[in-house]
Amino acid sequence: MRFMARFDPIFQTALHQMAQLHTRRVLRPVRHVGAAMVVRDGRELVNFSSNDYLGLSHHPLLAARAAQWLHEAGTGAGASRLVTGTSAQHMAVEKRLATFKGTEAALLLASGWQANASVLAALLKLAAEQGTRPLVFTDRLNHASLHHGCMAAGVRQIRFRHNDLAHLDSLLAQHAAQPGMRVIVTESVFSMDGDRTDIGRLCAIARAHGAFTYVDEAHATGVLGPQGRGLCAGHEVDLVMGTFSKALGGFGAFVAGSRALCDWLVNACSGFVFTTAPPPAVLGAMDAAVELLPTLDAERARLARNADHIRSTVRACGLSPDPSTTQIVPVVMGEAARALAFAASLEDHGILATAIRPPTVPPNASRIRLALSAAHTDAMIDQLATAIPAALRACP
Ligand SMILES: Cc1ncc(COP(=O)(O)O)c(C=O)c1O
Repeated sequence: MRFMARFDPIFQTALHQMAQLHTRRVLRPVRHVGAAMVVRDGRELVNFSSNDYLGLSHHPLLAARAAQWLHEAGTGAGASRLVTGTSAQHMAVEKRLATFKGTEAALLLASGWQANASVLAALLKLAAEQGTRPLVFTDRLNHASLHHGCMAAGVRQIRFRHNDLAHLDSLLAQHAAQPGMRVIVTESVFSMDGDRTDIGRLCAIARAHGAFTYVDEAHATGVLGPQGRGLCAGHEVDLVMGTFSKALGGFGAFVAGSRALCDWLVNACSGFVFTTAPPPAVLGAMDAAVELLPTLDAERARLARNADHIRSTVRACGLSPDPSTTQIVPVVMGEAARALAFAASLEDHGILATAIRPPTVPPNASRIRLALSAAHTDAMIDQLATAIPAALRACP
């Protein structure tokens, strides 16, 4: 015991520094009650912090297929896909996904973080092997996993201003004389601001500069685009990454693209090669979710209405939900302490809306990130609309 604690002063000092900056996190257990409620510290709260945008985490079809595939094939896949881990179920989900995304192929990965961190790293290393270092153009507000992928490949990012495609275009033009593969990395819906990339324009810019496009659709998959196919649907994006962990109510991730791209990733992506395959229960939930998505237009319309309503409420309180146009509605408070106070005040009104602080968001951009769901009832939305001004009054 003494041995295990001998480095503790280092950790304790780091934790103390975070606490002083109001950025220390602690794990607080909740019990989920359906898709939209939790119980925390004995208190029922409406959950406005979950990415379960369609409420699929509690859909009976997902639960039934997860249970069925678990009973048929066991609790674990046993090995990497390349050893003995590939099952008919993996192939079936990938086929269904490729059809849904309108691509030649799809490849499953363990999580969205793992997908970005390892797929991007593999891609950039391959580009470097072509002779010259790749030129990687990234949105300033890209998700941490995308930064990690660039870091793992040892490339320096050329960052464009957030969602500013004119700036991207000018940076590509500035580097036109330099050799090397061009790779543009962005999100179709930004996780902390809820704004969208104009994918048509992105593709036109990429085409003009001969650049490869890597788009993270974690927050658009299932929610936006025709039948929830994402904002890249119908556009020539070279690699689309998506997750099952958000609107699809489960766990895991995928890459959709050409057959050659997916076959190459099977050989070259360390986050695919050196990890155990997704297990049967997880696959069952994935399969059911992708089957259901095209039928959920009414849920998507309801979700959009809920988000519009809450954006109006935030505006009426004199705050700006901009640039959000999706189911993610940020209320930027500035300092971490203010965001924490607002979250605590919302909790007093029965609302779970976790404060998001640096390093997840830039310094002084701490916020409440309201995540709407089709599972929220009208009464829950009304409760939030009443709670926001009341909570603000309590912590001006
Ligand atoms: C834009 C984006 N990409 C990737 C991820 C990671 O996905 P996952 O939670 O499946 O690891 C997230 C989730 O936080 C995200 O917001």
